[in-house]
Amino acid sequence: MASLNTVLVPLVALLVTVASASNFYNDFDITWGDGRAKILSDGDLLTLNLDKASGSGFQSRNEYLFGKIDMQLKLVPGNSAGTVTAYYVSSKGSAWDEIDFEFLGNLSGDPYILHTNVFSQGKGNREQQFYLWFDPTADFHTYSILWNPQRIVFSVDGTPIREFKNLESMEVPCPKNQPMRICSSLWNADDWATRGGLVKTDWALAPFTASYRNFNAEACVLSNGVSSCGTTTSPPASTSNAWFSEELDSTRQERLKWVRENYMVYNYCHDVNRFPQGLPTECSMS
Ligand SMILES: *[C@@H]1O[C@H](CO)[C@@H](O)[C@H](O)[C@H]1NC(C)=O
Repeated sequence: MASLNTVLVPLVALLVTVASASNFYNDFDITWGDGRAKILSDGDLLTLNLDKASGSGFQSRNEYLFGKIDMQLKLVPGNSAGTVTAYYVSSKGSAWDEIDFEFLGNLSGDPYILHTNVFSQGKGNREQQFYLWFDPTADFHTYSILWNPQRIVFSVDGTPIREFKNLESMEVPCPKNQPMRICSSLWNADDWATRGGLVKTDWALAPFTASYRNFNAEACVLSNGVSSCGTTTSPPASTSNAWFSEELDSTRQERLKWVRENYMVYNYCHDVNRFPQGLPTECSMS
């Protein structure tokens, strides 16, 4: 804990929230797909496309070290079987950290699976999967990552679906030192994504399109590799940094429980066959 405090004290002192007004031209670069990713409507909308030749992707210009990051997504409609839309934050290198949302497509009328994972220092194997309580292709919905020194919370339209606590005191590595970029991509994964790879992508329906809007980040931004935490804006009122110590209140705990009881389809913490040496430490802590 001593090392944690020495890292955090100077950081908190410098903490200034950067709240971005959404503009895809300013905040993101298209990184993949040769024209298949498009920024539209003066920067308010971004679309990713997938056809038989290639998928597409984008990433944030900024690197973030902690933040509360919201994005609205509208997923590939109709028969999206075989497609995967990944939306995540990730650091670089062989010991990378990553917080993942992945949306596994399905046949028309069959449910998407929302697949989540947390990597710390290059190690993942923490998959949890959910059905959604709405049709994620009919409209935009908000997918959020809260990442602060105590916890990671995945939320959908403000409802928490997963919490990963900082259990460093129990030797569970936790993302907290490496800056991450926001990334997204749409690609073909029909070898595994839909019913374990049984349902293939129907290329007659291509191109497949996923759409993004209303990006918002209250976050610590790294500039020039220094954790200057957003010195480019005037300091906000201290209440707007509430995300930095945010935890789930009892109402949100109830919502989390509701999702997990009714919509969770896979939890690595219940998969005893997969971990013959015993379940990961964090599984006994929730
Ligand atoms: C697709 O639909 C089937 C049938 O309802 C379901 O078992 C499966 O979990 C759904 N999602 C994926 C990604 O396969």
